[in-house]
Amino acid sequence: MKTNLVVVPAVAVLTLTAAAFISTADDCVDCHKKITPLIVSDWELSKHSKKEVTCSTCHGDGHKSATDVAKATQPTADTCGVCHEKQVKEFSGGKHALAWAAMKAMPTFHWQPMTMTEGMKGCGGCHKIGLKTEAEIKELKKTSPGFGVASCDACHTRHTFSLTEAKSPQACMTCHMGFDHPQWEMYSTSKHGARHFLKQTRNLPPNSAAPDCHTCHMPEGHHGVNTAWGFLAVRLPMPEDKQWAADRATILQALGVLDPDGKPTARLDVVKASKVAKLTHEDWQAERDKMLKTCNQCHSANFAKGELAKGDDMIRQVDKLMAEAIRIVAGLYKDGALAKPKGYAAAFPDLLTFHDAPTVIEQKLFVMFLQHRMRAFQGTFHSNPDYALWYGWSELQRDLTEIKERAAELREKAGKK
Ligand code: HEC
Ligand code: HEC
Ligand code: HEC
Ligand code: HEC
Ligand code: HEC
Ligand code: HEC
Ligand code: HEC
Ligand code: HEC
Repeated sequence: MKTNLVVVPAVAVLTLTAAAFISTADDCVDCHKKITPLIVSDWELSKHSKKEVTCSTCHGDGHKSATDVAKATQPTADTCGVCHEKQVKEFSGGKHALAWAAMKAMPTFHWQPMTMTEGMKGCGGCHKIGLKTEAEIKELKKTSPGFGVASCDACHTRHTFSLTEAKSPQACMTCHMGFDHPQWEMYSTSKHGARHFLKQTRNLPPNSAAPDCHTCHMPEGHHGVNTAWGFLAVRLPMPEDKQWAADRATILQALGVLDPDGKPTARLDVVKASKVAKLTHEDWQAERDKMLKTCNQCHSANFAKGELAKGDDMIRQVDKLMAEAIRIVAGLYKDGALAKPKGYAAAFPDLLTFHDAPTVIEQKLFVMFLQHRMRAFQGTFHSNPDYALWYGWSELQRDLTEIKERAAELREKAGKK
């Protein structure tokens, strides 16, 4: 019973020696064996428990009893960095480190319920993997009692901090799934995933070849994840293919990164700061070369190069459909068949308004962009034919048809046929 632990007779306290007031690791463990027994047993399973990394190493020794719980501190990546400097340094240079800032940079961020963002039940639930500033940590303490600040526990979770867990694709599953980035679904139903699970269930020998997420995305255990194309699959310089260049320009305009005259806007600075796109060919090629080296452990260089080139070409193809749809909606604004929402900088629909876009046709454009365009090329890169075709390409075609039909209706309604 918790209360028994806190009601210490005053006389007993007075008879304790001074040394007993200095909390030792054993104090934390002994009391927490009753308070949170399975946290202690998880910690006992970890390598930390064998190396004298104890409760107070990560949570400080300010809190000593049930009456001063607020004095317990929560570790940040810097806490881990005292002993794991290499991983923290690598992590800080990769995209995961930027996740919190990238989320907050979204124009629609402030339109979502707080529980979804700082409360970490939506955007924040995944983007908490990003590093936070001192000020942000302080703010989180006030609003949602200060958890979600560790970043490093995203893949090897507390308090086992297991290497085996982090190396399993399941470690990535909770975030890399669903609407706009179903890497878990694509991977787990690809040949790579199928082989992985056959290994996990010991139907294939443990030393048989099957890549996990970390094999391809954290080669040699490097903690700074990054890919050539990134999430949005837009990059600079523009491609030589004239059609593709025009299509990408349209998409960049609808992302508000280029203005209607094709000139960079303030959003380009956000893109730069959050490393959302590669801005030089060399940056892109460096990531591509790393990936090819990984494939090459199990496939011929020839095969791997060909497979990744198909992903690139898929982006070209989906950009064509996407740009056509954007131009249709932009045409409606221009011709007065659809009211351009206030606050839209350009003559273009704003893809970053997400589900908060005001009309069905503009929302369809967002779904087309964030759900179906993503699936078509992500499925191609992750060797998942069904995602590439039925959940990606096929859906894009249907979106475009629907947008065309709705546009015609809107024009008719507005008498602008
Ligand atoms: C005499 C018992 C006792 C001792 C000793 C003790 N704790 Fe606690 N601790 C508690 C209780 C009670 C809570 C509150 C549990 C709850 O909310 O269910 C708590 C909560 C915590 C929390 C969570 C804080 C939060 O905001 O939810 C952490 C972390 C923690 N203790 C770490 C430690 C560390 C580190 C030590 C040793 C320096 C320690 N504890 C020593 C009883 C103790
Ligand atoms: C290697 C660092 C590390 C060690 C050692 C450690 N913890 Fe934690 N603990 C964490 C991290 C990381 C979190 C999550 C913080 C966050 O969400 O911001 C956490 C959170 C907690 C929480 C609050 C969240 C919850 O799930 O209830 C409690 C309670 C807690 N630890 C107790 C303990 C106790 C007791 C020990 C010793 C047996 C211990 N910790 C040892 C890193 C550690
Ligand atoms: C005071 C030093 C110290 C701190 C702080 C610390 N660790 Fe460790 N960590 C260690 C030691 C020592 C080992 C064991 C290394 C070994 O035996 O190879 C270890 C091992 C690990 C491992 C590998 C476990 C395995 O199964 O091989 C992971 C993952 C890890 N720590 C993560 C973390 C995270 C995350 C944090 C912060 C929340 C953290 N550590 C904080 C010292 C520390
Ligand atoms: C289920 C977890 C999850 C939720 C919920 C989520 N995200 Fe994400 N977000 C991710 C992942 C994972 C990526 C990277 C995907 C990829 O690269 O394919 C990402 C990418 C992004 C990016 C692009 C960053 C870049 O560099 O390209 C932004 C911006 C973003 N999310 C903002 C948000 C906002 C705002 C919300 C809430 C409206 C949100 N996310 C909800 C997991 C999530
Ligand atoms: C995206 C998932 C992910 C995150 C986030 C993450 N790790 Fe890891 N970590 C891994 C994987 C996967 C491995 C195993 C890599 C390998 O051996 O190829 C690993 C290995 C480790 C090891 C063991 C290294 C060794 O060779 O024994 C330590 C220590 C570690 N991580 C610490 C950290 C720290 C500190 C952070 C926060 C900066 C962190 N990790 C964040 C996935 C992650
Ligand atoms: C066989 C290697 C391989 C495996 C396994 C793999 N990926 Fe990928 N991943 C790729 C390639 C190739 C790309 C595209 C790289 C580029 O931009 O050129 C990619 C891209 C990504 C991206 C950026 C957006 C996208 O989908 O194009 C994320 C995020 C990602 N992978 C996460 C994961 C996660 C999470 C897992 C496990 C569930 C996983 N990947 C498994 C090879 C792999
Ligand atoms: C707690 C949620 C979370 C977990 C767990 C997680 N990620 Fe991520 N990941 C994200 C978010 C959010 C982003 C987008 C960050 C940004 O770009 O600002 C991201 C981005 C990435 C990217 C970069 C894509 C690009 O834009 O180039 C790769 C690759 C990636 N993750 C791989 C992994 C792998 C592999 C694992 C498991 C070992 C993993 N992630 C675990 C949330 C997570
Ligand atoms: C750790 C080993 C390993 C790595 C790394 C790896 N693969 Fe594979 N891959 C396999 C195995 C094994 C198969 C199943 C072969 C089969 O279908 O007969 C496979 C199957 C495939 C397939 C399905 C087509 C086929 O031949 O059946 C494609 C496409 C593919 N891999 C592409 C890639 C690409 C691209 C990369 C790098 C981004 C990569 N792989 C990295 C082991 C690997």
